[in-house]
Amino acid sequence: MVCLGNICRSPMAEGIFKDKIKQLKLNWKVDSAGTSSWHQGDKPDKRAIAEMKRKGIDISSQRSRPFLPSDFSEFQKIFVMDENNKRDLLEYAQTDRQAKKIELLLTYAGHDMLSVPDPYYGTEKDFEATYTLLNDACDKVIDRLIKENA
Ligand code: 4NP
Repeated sequence: MVCLGNICRSPMAEGIFKDKIKQLKLNWKVDSAGTSSWHQGDKPDKRAIAEMKRKGIDISSQRSRPFLPSDFSEFQKIFVMDENNKRDLLEYAQTDRQAKKIELLLTYAGHDMLSVPDPYYGTEKDFEATYTLLNDACDKVIDRLIKENA
């Protein structure tokens, strides 16, 4: 799960996705990263931690890290939150196979919207909307991954 700062959207996506696969007893490796290293080592944004806590998921032990070239080989799929993230990662991709791993999360989930709006400059309500969007998208992404790997 990749966004710009790895303190709002992608940590929430990581927490939601991990919670769902745990319930489904799927042993998949999931992580998140930022296209920037601006917040390297930081906890998720307080508002992201609080929103996730309200939904029963603790993401307070996550720490921001930048996307690494090795992530292209470590992971089968790389889900990005918006088109800027996609453009940035496409620049790092060295092969067609790596480029093809990058997917817009919402598009892969069959959603009409392309981007998960960034709640960083928003309010608590925006973090709730981010949760709702990511929660729905993660359900659909997991369904699709199960079908495609069956
Ligand atoms: P994120 O949100 O990409 O969802 O983690 C942002 C966090 C920090 C900044 C921008 C977006 N920033 O400019 O520091």
